[in-house]
Amino acid sequence: MEYNFCGNSGLQLPKISLGLWHNFGDTDRFDEATRMICTAFDNGITHFDLANNYGPPPGSAEINFGKIFAAQLKAHRDEILVASKAGYRMWNGPYGDGSSRKNLMASLDQSLRRTGLDYFDIFYSHRYDGVTPVEETMQALIDMVRQGKALYVGISNYPREKARQACQYLENQNVRCLLYQGKYNLFERSPEQETFPLNREKGVGYIAFSPLAQGLLTNRYLHGIPAGSRVRKGSGFLLEEHLTPAVLEKVRRLNELAEKRSQSLAEMSLAWVLNNPNVTSVIVGTSSVPQLRDNLKALENTHFTPAELQQINEILSP
Ligand SMILES: NC(=O)c1ccc[n+]([C@@H]2O[C@H](COP(=O)([O-])OP(=O)(O)OC[C@H]3O[C@@H](n4cnc5c(N)ncnc54)[C@H](OP(=O)(O)O)[C@@H]3O)[C@@H](O)[C@H]2O)c1
Repeated sequence: MEYNFCGNSGLQLPKISLGLWHNFGDTDRFDEATRMICTAFDNGITHFDLANNYGPPPGSAEINFGKIFAAQLKAHRDEILVASKAGYRMWNGPYGDGSSRKNLMASLDQSLRRTGLDYFDIFYSHRYDGVTPVEETMQALIDMVRQGKALYVGISNYPREKARQACQYLENQNVRCLLYQGKYNLFERSPEQETFPLNREKGVGYIAFSPLAQGLLTNRYLHGIPAGSRVRKGSGFLLEEHLTPAVLEKVRRLNELAEKRSQSLAEMSLAWVLNNPNVTSVIVGTSSVPQLRDNLKALENTHFTPAELQQINEILSP
């Protein structure tokens, strides 16, 4: 595994991190979840990305991670980064959702209890909720650090100007924003204009989620919708209606290019994200150990020729 320094900080992240949004809940196979986490760590993936609401049901990914961690990885606590987040609906009533101090503080304590950890390495505000003043949310993050419950803090899904305000507020209180977590993949390139310039200016790392567009940018849907796939499970945001003929045609052409590079499409899609110098790490989600091993192979070739990059742009142009 190769590691990148996270923005201007002294913390290194593995180029590939593992996310537990899907495939680690109570409706998934605990034995496969255990194997994926252990295989990840054995291959140098030292960073696991959680949130309060991951499951289903919400909270179960943290509970399952906690069980696996206690049984397999506890002795390696200082070799591992665990991240969690709060900001989306988690419990009933006005305090179980959004980015208020009340929600974030309660949610952090719940997440620590579910995982059985003493602290999170990284804790994020999961979103700007459109109402809560950024100062209130950032002060809550600062206080988590002061309380020793989080070593570093980050933000996710913040619009550009709110992200700027957040970074500035943190900086003024001597708690830097470590990381911005946002969606970046071959189909979603808005961070190139929206987020990367601020990251560079402020020395904040960028960690890309859904680098495979939830499985679209792999060979998963090239020959129909397989049983057990994210679309078939129907518990998430990737829907059958997203698999339009136009999208599948682009995927097929990208797959041909990947074959010419002697890579799977998943490998090439991850390599393309990692080829961007603004990206500190990609968070992959996997439903099996073979998928994880395939994704790790992306690191063997993250170089693209100008002709390949041009071909990719042509395939993706509307
Ligand atoms: N901050 C946020 O708001 C936010 C939002 C979304 C995600 N995230 C984080 O980012 C992580 C990754 O997101 P994601 O799960 O959407 O990532 P993704 O890597 O884009 O998609 C993961 C899915 O792609 C398929 N896949 C993965 N590797 C494959 C391979 N080698 N070959 C074929 N198919 C493959 C699997 O689908 P099947 O299940 O069908 O096998 C897997 O579940 C999450 O777990 C979470 O930690 C954060």
